[in-house]
Parts: sequence; structure tokens; C-alpha cells
Amino acid sequence: MGPFLDIRPAQGPLAPAPCRVKPGPRENFNAPSWIDEPLKHVVESQQFNKESLSEIFRVAREMEGVRPGTPESKCLEGAVMSTLFYEPSTRTRLSFEAAMGRLGGTVLSTESAGEFSSAAKGETLEDTIRTVEGYADCIVLRHFLAGSARKAARAASVPILNAGDGPGQHPTQALIDVYTIQREIGRLDDISIGLVGDLANGRTVRSLAYVLSMYKNVRMFFVSPDVVRMKDDIKEYLSGVGVCWEEVDDLKAVASEVDVLYQTRIQKERFQDRPEDYEAAKGKYIVDAALMQLLKKDSVVMHPLPRVDEIKPEVDSDPRAGYFRQAKNGLFVRMALLKLCLQDRLR
Ligand code: NCD
Repeated sequence: MGPFLDIRPAQGPLAPAPCRVKPGPRENFNAPSWIDEPLKHVVESQQFNKESLSEIFRVAREMEGVRPGTPESKCLEGAVMSTLFYEPSTRTRLSFEAAMGRLGGTVLSTESAGEFSSAAKGETLEDTIRTVEGYADCIVLRHFLAGSARKAARAASVPILNAGDGPGQHPTQALIDVYTIQREIGRLDDISIGLVGDLANGRTVRSLAYVLSMYKNVRMFFVSPDVVRMKDDIKEYLSGVGVCWEEVDDLKAVASEVDVLYQTRIQKERFQDRPEDYEAAKGKYIVDAALMQLLKKDSVVMHPLPRVDEIKPEVDSDPRAGYFRQAKNGLFVRMALLKLCLQDRLR
């Protein structure tokens, strides 16, 4: 079993379940089947299981040691990766491109694909994918619509790596986040995490909730303004697999409880038709020096970045501020994903 999703099997239905607080061991729930064959994609967090996650993290750890000029730094020589981005990005695009470069592959890059590629002329996503796959061995896709990575994967004959599909998912970020928690806290079982900010539109928290739910005795606290509460699909999923979660208004109370404080940006771009909701949500939960006083000594503050005002710069010098280390881990996790995804295809 490998970590990549064969998109063709239909996904099973989510089992609706009342919220139960019953933490405990469980196998991954609702995972589509895994098939090791050439058509492999990273589309959503539910496709992973503990075994595939450990394999990705093991390779990511190896990637931390890859040095220029070594055979490992050429393992993807001859391979081409295309980054097809219809939404802005700094970390995701650059870390994927750096990852490919550090393993000897090359990159075809489109920034602002929506404005500057044939999408602007009315081309469908499927046609763009069928064209780009003629030039590249894998496609890293960021799109503004939820579900577009799955749609692209259906059309593609090369791996599609979902780099964020609107308010849907951002599975490679979730892998980075979990890898970072392991590196910072030293374990993935028995952790408490506060997910803070825009939990309705933030795709990183959605993907992260799925991945964390695979570990034992994980407790989640959702802290968000009313207009951007965590959506029911995630709550039902978590309850269904027995993850203990709770919605809490008081960030201070959560700060003193958790091992990981995961802050997120209010996603302004998703509020175009309701600016009043954005105004109501922004600035409500801020991590500042005073909040850091309440945090446990051995905890970590994370953020997928970019931040706006939700973590004050005064926090950056605190050793528990892990968000730039988290961004750096993006390089190693994406190197691992590209290696696992492409190495067999190059043989
Ligand atoms: C996030 C994203 O694009 O979803 N950033 C990232 O990929 N590191 C978070 C955000 O934009 O707020």
C-alpha cells in the first residue's frame, strides 16, 4: 500500500453520527482503497492511513539530510513537475519548486494561472490538465474551487498533488503540520490541539483534523468567531471516529490546556459577497505576548502562514513560535512526496 490515491474507486459515504466524546484507538475511517499503480494522486487527507503517514514522515526525515552533489540529490533527474496555481501562494509553490530542484528535477511554473493561462480564454480545467500532462510528470494544482483537485485527478494520467482547492482541503499542508507536531512535541498520540481562527474557510484546518483523527487520544478545541465555525462535515467525521472535540469561545482557557496552538488567518478572499461577516470575524482571536504567558512551556504555536494580524510579531522570538520552522518543514515533506510519487514512474 502506498500513500497515493487512486482516484477511480468511489468514496464511501460519511457515516453521520452524533458528537460523542469517546477517544480511543481506531483505524482510519472511510478511507478510499489504496492501489499501488501508476495513477497516483494526493487529493485529500482521508486517503492516508497511519502506515502511509509513517512512510512519508520517514522519507521526509531522510530528506532533511540531502546535500547537493549526492546521488540522492539527483534521484528525480529528468522528471518535470508543473505548478498550476489559480490562487496566490508563496510557501506552497516555492517549497514544491525547491523540493523538485533539490532532488534534481525541473519545474514548469504558472503563477496566477487563472489570469495568465488559457483559463482566461475559457478553457476547462480538464483540458488544461490534459495539455499540461503532455509536458510534465506530475501537476501540483492550486485552485479556487473545492473539489477541483478530484476533478483534475479524474482527467489526469499523471499524478495530481492538491495544493489547496478553495475552501476544500490542503492535504500536503496537513502532512507538514503533523510532521511538525511530531518534530516539535515528540509524539502524535495523546495531544491536545487548539484550532483557532477561520475554521469554516480554512482548508488547512479541515485537512489537519482528518489526519490528526488517525492518532490515539487526540483532543481538539475549536476556537472561532461565530460566522466561521468548523463545518458539520468535519465535526460529524470526528465524532464518527471517536475524536474528542469541543467548541470553546475563550482562547485564554484553551491556551493553557493545549500542546499545540494552531492559529489561522481569517480568509478575506472567501467573504466577497458578505464583507460584514469578515468585519465581524477579523481581529477576534489574537496570539500576543500576554497569551504566550498562559501557554504550557513545552507547547508550540503553529500557523500555515501567511499571517495578517492574528499572531503579533512580538511572539516570533518565543522559542515556542514554531511557524517558520513549520514552513521550512514544507520543503522536506514535499521532497518526500515527490520522491514517493515519481521515483517508480522514472524507472
Ligand atoms: C494557507 C492556504 O493557502 O490555505 N497557506 C499555505 O498554503 N501555507 C493558509 C492561508 O492562506 O491562510
